[in-house]
Amino acid sequence: MDPSAPLLFFDSGVGGLSVLAPTRELLPNAPIVYAADSAGFPYGKRSEAEIASRVPALLGRLVERFHPRLAVIACNTASTIALDHVRSALDLPVVGTVPAIKPAAEMSKTRVIGVLGTEATVRQPYVDDLAARFAADCTLIRHGSPELVELAEAKLGGENIAVDAVRVAVRPMFDAPNGEKIDTVVLACTHFPLLADELRAALPDVAYVDGGPGIARRIAYLTREQPWPAEHRPGVAVFTSAARRPLDSALARFGLNEILIL
Ligand code: DGL
Repeated sequence: MDPSAPLLFFDSGVGGLSVLAPTRELLPNAPIVYAADSAGFPYGKRSEAEIASRVPALLGRLVERFHPRLAVIACNTASTIALDHVRSALDLPVVGTVPAIKPAAEMSKTRVIGVLGTEATVRQPYVDDLAARFAADCTLIRHGSPELVELAEAKLGGENIAVDAVRVAVRPMFDAPNGEKIDTVVLACTHFPLLADELRAALPDVAYVDGGPGIARRIAYLTREQPWPAEHRPGVAVFTSAARRPLDSALARFGLNEILIL
């Protein structure tokens, strides 16, 4: 294994940074390529067929160009729809990001769990399957919020996010039948942990479950016997369209100092 072979993170936008951050804590010298499909953003509004053809093709191009040791689909929408397609198309380990329903079911006392994702994620059979396997005795209330995805992008672009805007976006989940009993909310979109402070301020009485640290541990485990560079090197951010938000300073905070267009 070449020590300079990177970890490749993939999302539609900045959401995957919430998976990159805990990974960097465990693997500080890991070379990083962070790819955002800005031309395809937002995935939550796309059809299953679009995601299933777009994501494996793009990842194929990224793998050819950057030769990663492992790819992380740091996006619930892409993972719940296209993980199998990507795994069969690529000849390298692929880690997906799927809603953390199992830990949420272990925590919930009321047995009513909110699953907050994109519109595309919350309707996936993959989520039905996780619910049946790990939360059969729980009521799951699913809510897709494109507004929160936009708010997370805006926050990383340097905008101040009003707690009220977050409250309004999440409110329908709590207004649904039995919604008042929700005590645990799965952040089933990688954009949402980027709004953790605002979510806690807006709705402080529930626990939020972020799958990011668990994904980071999985990446560290899968690469445990591999060599890394002796020193930290700046990472690369790759976008699929030239038109993007002014994200440079946010990307730099995540160790991504070089920006490329695919
Ligand atoms: N970050 C993504 C996810 O985890 C998707 C956001 C979007 O493009 O709608 O689902």
